[in-house]
Amino acid sequence: MLLLAIETSCDDTAAALIEDGKKVLSSLVSSQEEVHRRYGGVVPELASRHHVRNIVPIVKGALEEARKGWGELDGVAVTRGPGLVGSLLVGISLGKAIAYALGLPLVGVNHLIGHLMAIFLEREVPFPFIGLVASGGHTSLYLVKGYLDASLLGATRDDAAGEAFDKVAKYLGLGYPGGRVIEALARKGDPGAIPFPRAYLSPDSLEFSFSGVKTAVVQFLRSHRVAERDLPDIAASFQEAIIDVLVSKAIRAAETYRIPRVVVAGGVASNARFREKFEEEAAERGIEVSFPSPHLCTDNAAMIGVVGYHLLLKGRRDGWEMNALSRWPSPGEGR
Ligand code: KG4
Ligand code: ZN
Repeated sequence: MLLLAIETSCDDTAAALIEDGKKVLSSLVSSQEEVHRRYGGVVPELASRHHVRNIVPIVKGALEEARKGWGELDGVAVTRGPGLVGSLLVGISLGKAIAYALGLPLVGVNHLIGHLMAIFLEREVPFPFIGLVASGGHTSLYLVKGYLDASLLGATRDDAAGEAFDKVAKYLGLGYPGGRVIEALARKGDPGAIPFPRAYLSPDSLEFSFSGVKTAVVQFLRSHRVAERDLPDIAASFQEAIIDVLVSKAIRAAETYRIPRVVVAGGVASNARFREKFEEEAAERGIEVSFPSPHLCTDNAAMIGVVGYHLLLKGRRDGWEMNALSRWPSPGEGR
């Protein structure tokens, strides 16, 4: 089954051609980082306008790179939510138009379930597993029993982990998006230099809270004379605080549910220090942890193709009335 997958939930315009929900024939991502950098965050109106400009060349590019023609497609999978409605609607509208014109089935996919299933583009992981999505918009733990069976165990009460990276980078004058810049700076710093707080909430809580550590960095900057040479230590200490909480909550979920397997996804999962620390701690406890390659952790359409394939395989379809969902409280079947 050859699927065209489209992803436009935030500021990346992405399209991919996926065979049998596994084999990536092409996966193109057009980043809008340059557009939003000067505003220090994603400007929704600008994001949708740039999606409109980029989406057709990106979809055509995905077909060309895969050396496939329109007539060879068997279906269209498109991110339905959660995300920015104006951005989502661009991908959904084009997905509908292509499916309608070619007489193909159309299916809307949950972006977060897409992140969780990106791992299957590279390797098999037996179900059940604990899934952790740490991105710019979400930080959530799931109990995943199948491609279309993920139940939410806990989410962030305030900022997402990636959002905290972005905001702290902004306060430190490092630009947008913050994750990669902080990671690079942190490599030269001491993660134990400043004891920024870790919000574990109650001992067995699987919820997150990252606004406290963000505020602690702001207070530190206000109460100390910070020079350029202090930035690596601040970045490393902040990053370590976020990583410690993510690792410990995911391991707690694995132990609580007695499932010795964790899959980590979302933009923050591309962080090398996070991957290294998680692997160390998981190995000590006999837990197997899997991370997709960094380019499959950040937003892409290939991951949407994985979920789309399993939905279509089960006979699921969406109609022309399908609308974007800015929030998607319970992902149910991954759509
Ligand atoms: O999954 P993603 O590409 O988009 C969303 O669905 O949000 O995640 C983007 C987020 C941004 O907040 C970005 O700062 C963060 O992931 N991020 C990182 C790294 N690369 C991206 N955070 C920490 N370390 C990184 N290397
Ligand atoms: Zn994402």
